[in-house]
Amino acid sequence: MPQLPGTDLTVSDLCLGANVFGWTADEATSFAILDRYVDATPSTVQPFVDTAESYGDGESERILGAWMAARGQRDRMVVATKASRGEKAHPLAAGEIRAAAERSLRNLQTDRIDVYYAHHDDETTPLEETLTAFDELVRAGKVRYVAASNYSAKRLTEALDTSERAGVARYAAVQTHYNLMERAAFESGLRDVAADRGLGVLPYFALAKGFLTGKYRPGEQIDSPRAKGASAYAGERGDRVLAALATVAGAHQATLPAVALRWLADQSTVTAPIASGRSVEQLAELLPMQDLVLTDDQRQLLTDASA
Ligand SMILES: NC(=O)c1ccc[n+]([C@@H]2O[C@H](COP(=O)([O-])OP(=O)(O)OC[C@H]3O[C@@H](n4cnc5c(N)ncnc54)[C@H](OP(=O)(O)O)[C@@H]3O)[C@@H](O)[C@H]2O)c1
Repeated sequence: MPQLPGTDLTVSDLCLGANVFGWTADEATSFAILDRYVDATPSTVQPFVDTAESYGDGESERILGAWMAARGQRDRMVVATKASRGEKAHPLAAGEIRAAAERSLRNLQTDRIDVYYAHHDDETTPLEETLTAFDELVRAGKVRYVAASNYSAKRLTEALDTSERAGVARYAAVQTHYNLMERAAFESGLRDVAADRGLGVLPYFALAKGFLTGKYRPGEQIDSPRAKGASAYAGERGDRVLAALATVAGAHQATLPAVALRWLADQSTVTAPIASGRSVEQLAELLPMQDLVLTDDQRQLLTDASA
């Protein structure tokens, strides 16, 4: 059962990506996706949803907030959102963080954000200013834990050292681009920092923008705003990974994306992969990752195929 290190949050094996809400999934579909996701989450853990100020210019947060209000589910959920870059000159300046948090709280119809990320590093603002502003939100009870997204290993280390020196809340987790097709950057940098400093890791694009579902085959035309990014993984290495996924999926009568998500969830330091579906049907193919148990050989087959 994934525990976000250093926190009292015990979360679902799969963190639900909410960037589809108000984008490739309309509000009614988003509500149906959230219903299905929460229904499928064991009662011993909390459903964990990942959104951001910038997704649909707040529309993703608004849909999630409307759903939590309509279903009376706020207390059951772990809600993560992010202070985003947008057009801001200094996105992580204290005033920007305060204003962004208030907007997100309104959109989400809640009095607290469980995990509040810096969406991207901001080298124009001193780390101490950013971390002190986050700390004030924690002290005010508006944010429970703060976290970093898209930070380099070096800057994350500096941020952790800064919060220790200043005696303010430290980043409890890092969100980063990591999946079977994108391994090198995380495994050669952030992974060691997360292990050494006891941080949770939440990998995004866990399905390589849909490529790891296996639907990007030669000659297939996929109607998705992600199609260009996902089809860039097609080629010899992509073929090897999909073949290994198919072998393991066949042994478990599982889907390719469920196996891809399980491999990621099993990697050292990873708390829970973040993935989305634009429909209940797509989500239904991801959820079985929660009960899937891979053998060491199966995990190794996937690791070797994606090397
Ligand atoms: N921190 C950051 O900077 C950052 C950046 C990116 C994402 N994220 C977070 O990570 C989450 C996940 O990223 P993502 O959703 O963009 O990428 P992803 O999880 O790699 O891909 C999900 C997409 O794959 C397709 N898909 C999923 N299941 C499928 C199935 N069973 N059959 C066929 N297609 C399927 C769907 O797209 P189509 O139907 O459109 O093909 C779905 O939206 C986001 O929602 C967001 O919360 C964070």
